[in-house]
Amino acid sequence: MTYAAFRSIGAYVPEKILTNEDLSKMVDTSDEWIVQRTGIKERRIAAKDERTSDMGVEAAKLAIERSGLKLEEIDMVICATISPDYFNMPSTATIISTKLGLGNITAFDISAACTGFVYIISIAKAFIESGMKKNVLIIGAEKLSAITDYTDRGTCILFGDGAGAAIISATDNKDEAIIDVHTGSDGKYADLLMTPNGGTGSPHDSIGQEAGACFMQMKGNETFKVAVRTLTKDVKEILAENNISSDEVKHFVPHQANYRIIKAVGDALKMRDDQVVLTVEKFGNTSGASIPMAINDIYESGKLKAGELMLLDAFGGGLTWGSALIPFSPVK
Ligand code: ACO
Repeated sequence: MTYAAFRSIGAYVPEKILTNEDLSKMVDTSDEWIVQRTGIKERRIAAKDERTSDMGVEAAKLAIERSGLKLEEIDMVICATISPDYFNMPSTATIISTKLGLGNITAFDISAACTGFVYIISIAKAFIESGMKKNVLIIGAEKLSAITDYTDRGTCILFGDGAGAAIISATDNKDEAIIDVHTGSDGKYADLLMTPNGGTGSPHDSIGQEAGACFMQMKGNETFKVAVRTLTKDVKEILAENNISSDEVKHFVPHQANYRIIKAVGDALKMRDDQVVLTVEKFGNTSGASIPMAINDIYESGKLKAGELMLLDAFGGGLTWGSALIPFSPVK
């Protein structure tokens, strides 16, 4: 039997920092309100000429180097993003693949908003377990600042830019294997979180090319409630189905949307503070990039060791959600 192992991690954050103080000069808000309601203090903003693919490339270089693989051993690239270089083609994955010099391999994007990274883990796992691919480069990369309305205080305080990447490889050692991945969706909540314009539902010829046509819009409070309810149910199910207790999880790595959502789900699982990975304070919500950026954070600070069990959970536009139980399995 062939299994899929989570071999390595990498991330990239842009240099420029946008603080709550900065935002309070742009919209009617305050550091106190933002910290109290979200836990966010600052977020990173990509340079004007820095594209989603550029950030994805930097994160991928680290993940590849740390995996010990040669470029020619990678046989597929998947990118999760809602802020691609181009709507809708070419895919950001093909651009990243070519910039890295990976050759003519399979490369494509998926759209599952903040759940994107969990979705691409499940896709990589399926391709590997079926024997179709051996080493898959997965990337979550976002330049959300390009689709954020900086006059809307309900959304602009939340989002930031960045990228994370991982290598998922075939193994015959069951102890190294990704244990389980859950993914779900419910389109009846589509209007809670969307970029309403620019697609066939509201094409460019009907909206013109005015600035802001493709900005994100969110019904934050309703999204918050569905997020807490759905995530709590999903993470409890994945643990129960795999007969794993919260205690056995070394690192709970939630999507970094809002500290209060993370805390509510963590409390429902009886997670201790030392189990919960938090980067929301310094990076805000980077959608598909947030989970790999958080994993990279514990990796680079020396907290993530071989064999340790991670529980991921994510929730985002669609609505979509997902969770995963993954031992960190670098090549020995
Ligand atoms: N500063 C000051 N006041 C504000 C701000 C702000 N930045 N934003 C909203 N307010 C005001 C509102 O106008 C409202 O005022 P009112 O009572 O006079 O009408 C009041 O604060 C409360 O507004 P709520 O929207 O109810 O505030 P809430 O506590 O829900 O916090 C937030 C808003 C932070 C957006 C929260 O709802 C949230 O985090 N939602 C979930 C986001 C999420 O998880 N999204 C999914 C992933 S994202 C993706 O997929 C791309």
